[in-house]
Amino acid sequence: FMDEEGMINKDKKEGVMKQRYKEDKEEKGEEELWMESQINKSKIGGGKEGRKKEGEKEYELVFDDEIEFVVGNKRKGKNKKGEEVGSDDEKKLPVYAYRQEFLDAMKDHQVLILVGETGSGKTTQIPQYLHEAGYTDYGKVACTQPRRVAAMSVAARVSVEMGKRLGAEVGYQIRFEDCTSEKTKVQYMTDGMLLRCFLTEPDLKSFSCLIIDEAHERTLHTDILFGLVKDIVRFRSDLKLIISSATLNAEAFSAYLDDAPIFMIPGRMFPVDILYTKQPEADYVDAAVVTTLQIHVTQKIGSGDILIFLTGQEEIEACAETLTMRTKGLGSRIPELIICPIYANLPADQQAKIFEKTPPNARKVVIATNIAETSLTIDGICYVIDSGFAKQKSYNPKTGMESLVVTPISQAASNQRSGRAGRTAPGKCFRLFTAWSFKNELEENTVPEIQRTNMGNVVLQLKALGINDLLNFDFMDAPPAETLMRAFESLYALGALNDKGDLTKLGRRMAEFPLEPMLSKAVIIAEKYKCVKEILSTVSMLSIGASVFYKPKEKAVHADQARMNFARGGGGDQISLLRCYNEWEENDHGTQWCFENFVQVKSMRKARDIRDQLAGLCERVEMEETSCGLDNFEPVLKSFTAGFFFNVAKLSRSGDYTTVKSRTTCYLHPGSVLAKDEVPSKWLCYFELSFTTKEYMRQCCPIKGEWLVELAPHYYSGEDIEEAKGKKMPKQRQYNKTR
Ligand code: CDP
Ligand code: MG
Repeated sequence: FMDEEGMINKDKKEGVMKQRYKEDKEEKGEEELWMESQINKSKIGGGKEGRKKEGEKEYELVFDDEIEFVVGNKRKGKNKKGEEVGSDDEKKLPVYAYRQEFLDAMKDHQVLILVGETGSGKTTQIPQYLHEAGYTDYGKVACTQPRRVAAMSVAARVSVEMGKRLGAEVGYQIRFEDCTSEKTKVQYMTDGMLLRCFLTEPDLKSFSCLIIDEAHERTLHTDILFGLVKDIVRFRSDLKLIISSATLNAEAFSAYLDDAPIFMIPGRMFPVDILYTKQPEADYVDAAVVTTLQIHVTQKIGSGDILIFLTGQEEIEACAETLTMRTKGLGSRIPELIICPIYANLPADQQAKIFEKTPPNARKVVIATNIAETSLTIDGICYVIDSGFAKQKSYNPKTGMESLVVTPISQAASNQRSGRAGRTAPGKCFRLFTAWSFKNELEENTVPEIQRTNMGNVVLQLKALGINDLLNFDFMDAPPAETLMRAFESLYALGALNDKGDLTKLGRRMAEFPLEPMLSKAVIIAEKYKCVKEILSTVSMLSIGASVFYKPKEKAVHADQARMNFARGGGGDQISLLRCYNEWEENDHGTQWCFENFVQVKSMRKARDIRDQLAGLCERVEMEETSCGLDNFEPVLKSFTAGFFFNVAKLSRSGDYTTVKSRTTCYLHPGSVLAKDEVPSKWLCYFELSFTTKEYMRQCCPIKGEWLVELAPHYYSGEDIEEAKGKKMPKQRQYNKTR
């Protein structure tokens, strides 16, 4: 533990953090209307574009509560020994004052838990300190991030600070993208990438320091890394390990890592007023737009930028679009509002925009997913608008179904979000839900991902690492036994494990691919069906994560037509994607072709990058790139189904689809090319489920029922195919967005 002076002290009894962050939230009592009457709501809309809602409803934000944070900027500029290190900007960061103490502590301890508020400089500075102190002389400093965007943007930032080209001394490594070189000393990477490093280099000997950053996020990969690094530091005494976290409950990390000392960087936080809505908001995107405009109009320009938390790309784009439209409507009556979206799949050049300094006569509004909760720090934010929701993976081990669900965030996450408003000055956080809802409906803490996800991929990787006894693996928080069993079962059904639970040859090859087991199975089985070329393109297109097609409002009809052109000839979404890729390739990967066909060129380039890498891996496992051509695409669908047979649904009499094994009612996503088919396919195999208002199947292809027994004999029997008559199940999840 560190005391106020930043020294490690042995007395663990006192909750140091608790003293520093005064937690006595003074009850304000008085109900202060936020907006009063300065603005007439109907004026904000900007003419015709304004949504009718505003006129009818008085949108009130009520002052409720104040969280007082201690201002921790007692020291700045120099560290205790009076050394001057780094540029002026870096010197302002809270971590700077502790540079020497930190390095001293590093000398004395092999493992350290590092705790500091978001924005204190942990991610950008600590690796540089280690580099400057000579740790990179005998190996790389790795710093893991749960998110790709964070790994990229932080690496970019640090390369600027160090005055080096990105990819040289400082680099990053994320799935399908390696921006490092032989020169690289400081390497940012996703936690999943470090996990993969264990496969090729079990002792990680090319690294001298590991920083498991954003440990509080408790992603699945981070949790697995904990177990692996805990083991590795025991036999590699020269390896330094830092677990870095932005939240207060570092004791758990310390306890897990044999009572490793906790090094605290006192935060530098200003008070943040928390405001709740008086009434539940039915549409938080709309509410976010209105609140943004209210802030923009009533609060002095220069008083700070705005950060909005929404759940995903679609919402963010809708919000950005509405804001653009409405501010345009208001014209020169209001100062300029610079709208910056940020989400995982946003192209890198646009990501950089969120960090640009706001010009004096304008205000910036950053619209983000929970990536901006802790992974990215944007300076100058004084207003936070919190929807109270995030997209979360949810997994039901009983049915084996995993889907992305918009879920209420935890109180801890909400408090973290509000903290983003108080980094550089006192701020305000507008919660788009009621105080009652916060207290009664939000969980206290976010459940670690390991307890709500499918573990197939991780189990396969651990097996490939030779870790066989997973039930006794040293998890910080063990996954439910049921989830582990499910993972074993599904890997067995895929043929990756034999009935003794050992990795098969197929399983070993599957583990070579940085893909979910279902995808890697599809790739490998394509060898048998002689369509490796086609499956690689299809799998790459499915793996982009971003949408391939775009549909400008004014050209919706043309865009739809272009899209349906790829669907002509059948084969559903998978084969449409394949046709799209092939045509693009035939057209020399052209930009003009993309433009004419309403295809996102950036998505296509990403698919090509992914494809190149997968093709390289195929070479490594000695697979020939066979081709079946496009006229007969059945082998491609068969290969896909050989991986995705868990995701098969059958048409029921009511016209809906029911999954064969788990008997859940699912619906064809309206965006599927099959949605327009007059005769629906009796059997569908889908890529993923997405739960919004109902359980939607995305990226679907028509298949034949009899394939199932051939492709997945461990999983389907003849009975399944005859008797899956689509008995309707009661709805599994009922979720109401209104709170
Ligand atoms: O990791 P931690 O949350 O402690 O802080 P950090 O990410 O190292 O951020 C330290 C400072 O670097 C912040 O004030 C950010 O404004 C700045 N930064 C930036 O300007 N651009 C980035 N891509 C990352 C950080
Ligand atoms: Mg950080």
